[in-house]
Amino acid sequence: MIRFSSSAQKMRSSEIRKLMKLAADPSLISFAGGMPANSLFPIDTLDEIYASLSVQAKQTAMQYGPTEGLPPLVKGLKEYLASKGFNLEGQDLLVTTGAQQAINVIAKVMLDPDDIVITEYPSFIGALAAFKSYQAITEGVPMDDEGIIISKLEEALDKHKSRVKLVYLSPYFHNPAGIIYSESRKNAVLEVLRKRKICLLEDDPYGELYFDQADKVLTQPIKTMVNDESVPICYAGSFSKIFGPGIRLGWLLAPTEIIDKCQLCKQSMDACSSSFTQVLATEFLKESRLEKYLQLLRPVYARKAQIMLDSLKEHMPKGVSWTTPKGGFYIWVTLPEHMDSSDVFSKSIEGGAAFVIGSAFDPAGKRNNSFRLAFSHTPEDMIAKGVEIVADAVKASL
Ligand SMILES: Cc1ncc(COP(=O)(O)O)c(C=O)c1O
Repeated sequence: MIRFSSSAQKMRSSEIRKLMKLAADPSLISFAGGMPANSLFPIDTLDEIYASLSVQAKQTAMQYGPTEGLPPLVKGLKEYLASKGFNLEGQDLLVTTGAQQAINVIAKVMLDPDDIVITEYPSFIGALAAFKSYQAITEGVPMDDEGIIISKLEEALDKHKSRVKLVYLSPYFHNPAGIIYSESRKNAVLEVLRKRKICLLEDDPYGELYFDQADKVLTQPIKTMVNDESVPICYAGSFSKIFGPGIRLGWLLAPTEIIDKCQLCKQSMDACSSSFTQVLATEFLKESRLEKYLQLLRPVYARKAQIMLDSLKEHMPKGVSWTTPKGGFYIWVTLPEHMDSSDVFSKSIEGGAAFVIGSAFDPAGKRNNSFRLAFSHTPEDMIAKGVEIVADAVKASL
């Protein structure tokens, strides 16, 4: 008899994992994976970067590195963040193995069993799993199309008082909701947190992927709006959606006191993130390579989103609604209250298309009359057909 830890015993059941496996069947048109399109990876740039590396740089790439990140990458990231308006005074940066690790180390240094983390409903599966792995309780606060609903956030904070250790938000092209916070909603969030001095974890892997230049202003992180220590904000970013998830690199910018603890914590997790990919990422930040690549990505994802929106409009029956993304990878579809997206999922798989059911994104694991469609990974010419299959499954389940 294997005696698992109590946190391992509480890890989420396998139902969602089973569905994910089904959704990974290559014969399906899949809107399931929150992944960049393979065809878009900057392979030529990668070849060019690698070919230009000195022997010394290649040796560094093969060696262990400092836990906080290779100094040239830390420097490059700090410059990048400063150019986005972050004030780095009193803050420090930790290079992480994806934003997922940034979330995980914050959870590990902040949370004790039964502490409460307020998240949005719906929320990112990976963050929910990280919080739960430290036996914290996640409570989802609903959103509208401008972000988390402030009165509901206040209600949750008032209800749980000092048991709330952390608020976790993903305000820019939300996974799975697809929305972006309005300026006024960000200000209101800040005011609420300031009043209660609660730590915010701001997760921003998609902010660079706006479809329209005019919406760039909306992607200004909340952390850049604070120039004092009235509210501790930890900001997580990632190379996954703007370079490639295979390099497994992200970062955490937070008050020095928090980063010091996170660094100790990361040391015992993986000692350091891959030096190999850190060397590549360092070069990717130079000579406007990142910005040129983003200019290539944005119109492609914008087009895919539009095809999906047009197809939803054409095929979905009355009573079904969905969000209209201004960037990122996702559309969140909401069915009439009595419906169950697991039923729709089974029928849709039979028809040949996959997505992720809504309960996966519910901090309580219950509400299931919604689902997530990712348009990012699916070839353009298959999106309309896939949406038609999903819509037929919805009609059959109605
Ligand atoms: C909102 C959000 N945060 C964090 C992550 C984790 O990203 P990474 O690949 O950098 O670990 C993802 C990945 O899908 C995400 O959607």
